[in-house]
Amino acid sequence: MKIRPTLVLICVHLLLHLSILHASDPHLTLDYYKSTCPNAEAIVRKEMECAVLSDPRNAALILRLHFHDCFVQGCDGSVLLDDTVTFQGEKNAPTNLDALKGFDIIDRIKNKLESECPGTVSCADVLTIAARDATLLVGGPYWDVPVGRKDSKTASFALVETNIPDANEGLLSIIAKFIYQDLSVTDMVALSGAHTIGMARCTNYRARVYGDYEITSDNNPIAESNLKSLKSTCPATGGSDNNEAAMDYVSPNIFDNSYYHLLLSGEGLLNSDQELYSSDLGIETSKLVKKYALDPIAFFEQFSESMVKLGNITNPETYVDGEVRKNCRFMNT
Ligand code: HEM
Repeated sequence: MKIRPTLVLICVHLLLHLSILHASDPHLTLDYYKSTCPNAEAIVRKEMECAVLSDPRNAALILRLHFHDCFVQGCDGSVLLDDTVTFQGEKNAPTNLDALKGFDIIDRIKNKLESECPGTVSCADVLTIAARDATLLVGGPYWDVPVGRKDSKTASFALVETNIPDANEGLLSIIAKFIYQDLSVTDMVALSGAHTIGMARCTNYRARVYGDYEITSDNNPIAESNLKSLKSTCPATGGSDNNEAAMDYVSPNIFDNSYYHLLLSGEGLLNSDQELYSSDLGIETSKLVKKYALDPIAFFEQFSESMVKLGNITNPETYVDGEVRKNCRFMNT
């Protein structure tokens, strides 16, 4: 079949147009709260400082929460909604259950904001700003956060399972989930660098440590001893599913590029992490892994850019029928 060049041009134009629409939502601006809540960012920062100072793991919890919010209906605070008798939220979907924490931190920030400027700052914006501060407070880059999101009155249990990638999913399927959100392969590899902080549960890395960990790490002695300890934390059978291990055991509480170094030495904790470097299908991804391992500034710059893109996945419905929730866990009545 012959493909007409005009048709190709129209498709390319449409694709570009779509991605531009997505990449910069006109509802979002840097000075959205300038007159209505000038201290909004300072309040979020202060609460995040307390949270990260009391436990640096809190930075990882908030960063992941933001990712899980944005991949389901856009960044609309849907992940923050509690289940009620008449409402099913996203928290109890299998992928999120026992895996998402940090909701109490968002509650604390929101309470402070409600006493300073009631009904003004959306929970979706709180989470987006908090994710930036989380990154910054453990040594990562700063970026300006466009704000003006509205909170959803809906959530989707089903879309959690469809849209959120899984540790044992193939590389191409994960890439497809990012492309679906208008994020590129480069965005995917850079955003995966968030795994330079935080922990994973045994249920998510068991297949990897009893799978090809030994092969990818090429029997190097440090990796061997690390593997032994991972296996004792995460036995092949038995109820240890919630036992945790750091995804970057070298510097688990510091946002740096050591995650990419671990991938080069074949010691990524999740199958999905190691595949970025070791998969036969990962020609482009492995080049990016090498680049970010060699050049931490390039990683920080790309991470910042990709986080803005992630945050710009908005939910158009919220501009028609959204709200600023008073309590992030429940819709306003
Ligand atoms: C590329 C596809 C991704 C996959 C397959 C994936 C998968 C996972 C899994 C399985 C865990 C462990 C959860 C647990 O065991 O409870 C995890 C943790 C985490 N993920 Fe991802 N993730 C991906 C991308 C991202 C992105 C884009 C971000 C943020 C920008 C992110 C941030 C985090 C953080 C910070 C943690 C640690 C959370 C904690 O300490 O509790 N991940 N991820």
